Amino acid sequence: MTDETTPDSAGRQRAATRPGTDAIYDRPQDYDLEHEGDDEDVRFYVELVRRLRPARVLELAAGSGRVTIPLARSVAGQAVDIVGLELADAMLEEAERKRADLPAEVQARVRFVQGDLREWSDAAPFDLVITPCGTLSHFLTIDDQIAAWTRAHDNLTPGGRFLVDLTMPDHAAYGDSMRTPPRTPVEIDIDTQDPETGVRLLRYKTTEYLAHEQRARIRFIYDKLGRDGAVDRYVSDFEAHVYYPREVDLLFRLTGFEVEHRYGDYSMRALKRTSRALIVIGRRR
Ligand SMILES: C[S@@+](CC[C@H](N)C(=O)[O-])C[C@H]1O[C@@H](n2cnc3c(N)ncnc32)[C@H](O)[C@@H]1O
Repeated sequence: MTDETTPDSAGRQRAATRPGTDAIYDRPQDYDLEHEGDDEDVRFYVELVRRLRPARVLELAAGSGRVTIPLARSVAGQAVDIVGLELADAMLEEAERKRADLPAEVQARVRFVQGDLREWSDAAPFDLVITPCGTLSHFLTIDDQIAAWTRAHDNLTPGGRFLVDLTMPDHAAYGDSMRTPPRTPVEIDIDTQDPETGVRLLRYKTTEYLAHEQRARIRFIYDKLGRDGAVDRYVSDFEAHVYYPREVDLLFRLTGFEVEHRYGDYSMRALKRTSRALIVIGRRR
């Protein structure tokens, strides 16, 4: 039993899986159910691509294609190529399955590749690199964060943009961890239902903030309730780096970008005190 992080195991930067735990990225259908109805960020990416008109887009850690596939549909008929890079086998398989359902002309514009975003590069550069859904929080060490930013930089054309999509530190959730003894209340933060199968997914969450590491230790407990009443319960633990806005600026500056925009939500409103999201766009110098 361990809670050591494993930076090199499958590159996922999560806490090592403990006995009895199961990673959500091994269950792409549950991952999608977890995000059922979460289309605010998808609309944001579609709008961003409409405004910026990039010829080549790279989505880092594309997962099950939750963002990639609607993005590809949105540029149908336009000269835009999209690449989704993903590490986990099961997520990649799900993304490929969705791609196979696309009309031929859209399929021709999007491809998925397997690789580690800290190392991967393509033959030709991109105009826009995106990392939706807090993915960069998986990188716990400064070296890995710099590697991720540097790779994004090197995959861009000069003047190209790198968008990082993170969440603002949730101090209210971290407050309980600062008490003596620390407390980790359980909250139900997701309750969704598959409109086709009727399967319901409940997610319980505990957050323990390790202030000295700037890291949140998060435990998700899932209950998947079938129509027949059967319950499939599993636990998914991970550790997330908690980014602060100035630190993100510093990472951009350090790796050859200038910060162009900082948004606090998916409606492209400026970052402010009460913002929940931390979305920053850097432009390669
Ligand atoms: C929060 S999910 C985001 C998926 C997708 N972008 C979305 O918005 O739904 C994070 C994804 O990052 C992938 N991932 C983690 N570390 C990675 C790495 N080093 N290189 C590539 N993908 C990675 C995971 O397998 C997972 O699919």
